[in-house]
Amino acid sequence: MQPILKTKFGRIFLSDSLQLMRDHIKDESVDLIVTSPPFGLVRKKDYGNVDADKYVQWFWPFAREFYRILKPSGSFVLDIGGSWTPGQPTRSLYHFELLMMLCREANFHLAQEFYWWNPAKLPTPAEWVTVRRIRVKDAVNTVFWLSKTPWPKATNRRVLAPYSDSMKDLLKFGYKAKLRPSGHDISDKFQRDNGAAIPPNLLAIPNTESNSNYLRYCKEIGVKPHSARFPAQLPEFFVRMLTDTDDVVFDPFAGSCVTGEVCERLERNWICSELLEDYVKGAVGRFKVDSKSNGRKTDPIFYKVYSSSSLWNGAGRGLFDDLLPQDGGRKRLTNTYRPKNADGTRKVKDKKAKYRRPAKSKSKAH
Ligand SMILES: C[S@@+](CC[C@H](N)C(=O)[O-])C[C@H]1O[C@@H](n2cnc3c(N)ncnc32)[C@H](O)[C@@H]1O
Repeated sequence: MQPILKTKFGRIFLSDSLQLMRDHIKDESVDLIVTSPPFGLVRKKDYGNVDADKYVQWFWPFAREFYRILKPSGSFVLDIGGSWTPGQPTRSLYHFELLMMLCREANFHLAQEFYWWNPAKLPTPAEWVTVRRIRVKDAVNTVFWLSKTPWPKATNRRVLAPYSDSMKDLLKFGYKAKLRPSGHDISDKFQRDNGAAIPPNLLAIPNTESNSNYLRYCKEIGVKPHSARFPAQLPEFFVRMLTDTDDVVFDPFAGSCVTGEVCERLERNWICSELLEDYVKGAVGRFKVDSKSNGRKTDPIFYKVYSSSSLWNGAGRGLFDDLLPQDGGRKRLTNTYRPKNADGTRKVKDKKAKYRRPAKSKSKAH
């Protein structure tokens, strides 16, 4: 099979990745599979998604091939978003079922689960989050790091982060070694300055690309950009942590070939496979310019997250003096939840709003 594009380090194939693996990828020849497959979504994307309830069955032949082509030291990193039950404010279990299948039947080990937090995520699904206000913003994707053995090659030294201000203070002013309430014995080794911090398994990466060579190229050639691209930092984190230069990285659901672009810059050999021609045509644009310029170094970004208790008041009622919807939000009400004005009155348009706390009795207490 001929690739659509061949670069110094990689190749893009317009192909069903299952076929490509079966016909062209040898046993135990790949160091890292990093990918974001079509999710089992309620609302379908342009490229067509598999229904959540059939997902595990659909994924099974891919899982078997992934296991076959990975080296024993290799890793399989799967970025998979959660999904909602159609018409109901509950979560689908499909990605957990998939994980169980991958570990119980396809023999992978779960090396670690990561959560990709997109700080720029819109509050969705709007019906449950912004209209009925009965769920919170769904802002993380699960990223499962799987491996063929319990000992995949890896180092966290390649993905360190700057020290936080509090850690810098601690290094400067010292820390009294003591037993924590949790029972952990914090020794004075924590005061050693190692130059940078070990990151957590929460990856804060906004998905806000709006001005890239890729988007410009798609516009130029008149193809629609891929609608579910992941940000380059996501595959980059795992390519850095789990592979060396000259290793082989495979993205079987490559879309716009972000993984290929990252690998070209980091000098890893790569293979991208994508089923739809328009996406491959757009992906080619990533390699028309010097791909080194695509990963310009940016200043470190530090996200501050408020403690979840920041706006809590003593009575557990929050900013809004309302009772909980006793029917769990089943009945759709609007205009009921409105903040108080500065003078303590409430802007309520809907006079019949159901869930307001009843006014306190005026009669004197006996
Ligand atoms: C979530 S998107 C991946 C987006 C990609 N990570 C990016 O950043 O552009 C999943 C992609 O898998 C492709 N796909 C689905 N089934 C496939 C198959 N059997 N072989 C190759 N690609 C497939 C879809 O066309 C879609 O573009």
